[in-house]
Amino acid sequence: MIQVATIVGARPQFVKAAVVSRAMQKREGVEEILIHTGQHYDQNMSDVFFDELKIPKPDYNLNINEKTHGAQTGKMLEAIETVLLKHSPDWVLVYGDTNSTLAGALAASKLHIPIAHVEAGLRSFNRRMPEEINRVVTDHVSDALFTPSSDADKNLAQEGIASEKIFRFGDVMMDANRFYSSLVGDETGLLQTVGVESGQFILGTIHRAESTNNVNCLKAIFRSLIDASSQLPVVIPLHPRTKHALQREGLYDSVIDSSIVVIDPVGFLGMIQLEKHARFIVTDSGGVQKEAYFQNKRCVTLRTETEWVELVEQGWNEVVDPSDEKEITNTLLKTIHHYATPQRGTNLYGEGNAGEKIVAHISTGV
Ligand code: UD1
Ligand code: UDP
Repeated sequence: MIQVATIVGARPQFVKAAVVSRAMQKREGVEEILIHTGQHYDQNMSDVFFDELKIPKPDYNLNINEKTHGAQTGKMLEAIETVLLKHSPDWVLVYGDTNSTLAGALAASKLHIPIAHVEAGLRSFNRRMPEEINRVVTDHVSDALFTPSSDADKNLAQEGIASEKIFRFGDVMMDANRFYSSLVGDETGLLQTVGVESGQFILGTIHRAESTNNVNCLKAIFRSLIDASSQLPVVIPLHPRTKHALQREGLYDSVIDSSIVVIDPVGFLGMIQLEKHARFIVTDSGGVQKEAYFQNKRCVTLRTETEWVELVEQGWNEVVDPSDEKEITNTLLKTIHHYATPQRGTNLYGEGNAGEKIVAHISTGV
């Protein structure tokens, strides 16, 4: 029996883990120990994903949600080590680039437990992003690096990571999208609850530290969204971090009083409904940029760079400086009318079976 200790903690990791956990449950000879660090803890940021996506209940919830990076990562490291010492798993499986990812990878590397990193090789080349540090460190201590794109392979090669450790089986987000999109089907219940019609709204998500900690960016982003919403409603499932930032800076009331439709964060199935029916998507999220592509939607990304460069190259995604209010407004207003998508070429992120291939590799080495 191969024992895999999976570390999750933040919303995007629940979506990715749902795919790989399901593949583990289907495969004989693999046992998963699920460790939730507690980084995300609200019902609509955590439990809803476990319930809706039928992720097994975590074997451990470490309940660590400190505010600063050092305290958060340090406490996770210590608590994860305790669990790993108890079980001595064959693999530690980590996802993406959050502090939970870093803590899991560091804890395992100190105990010489092989590390599998799902979504390896992504780079923004912006070391001021907490995620960039988390990715680089995690990749360099990992033993199996599962990349979602050819660009990720190239980044790892450039950093001298041995090609024998790199496996491009596709992106588990593609698997998630395919599987859950077909479950959602034509469902539009959430649109009715929110009060919008198919094709008659923009979907927006904003949560990144660079957007919310910098008041100039926060103001530029939300003033532009308010402007755009006067032409077409903008539905924003508001991340708690962004809500706190808007309240802190005294901007929350102007957002609520505008034609922006602020709702609480939604579960993944609700999010797919919104993505399917939006005219286009505006975001600073990593995952949502790709989901726009999966749902055949144009995306405006409010960041200074993106890791998903192929989407920009192929004309699906436009990256706009989040501090430039005029440019954001112009881009949103333009996209309201010119939202037609490029011709679809080959699937950029695999065939929707990355989860199964990852589990096969972990359990057999192939
Ligand atoms: C984290 C990840 C980021 C990822 C994002 C996904 C790091 C460094 N950042 O950012 O890469 O894109 O998750 O959403 O790991 N909060 C709540 N309730 C919750 C969760 C968060 O109120 O359930 C609030 C708290 O005030 C918390 C703040 O949001 O301090 C930030 O949460 P944190 O997990 O530290 O970072 P995120 O911005 O969510
Ligand atoms: N998501 C969700 N509900 C929301 C907002 C996002 O289910 O209200 C999903 C989204 O569809 C994607 C994942 O959460 O699968 C992305 O998480 P997030 O944007 O928080 O993090 P990132 O991908 O930027 O790390």
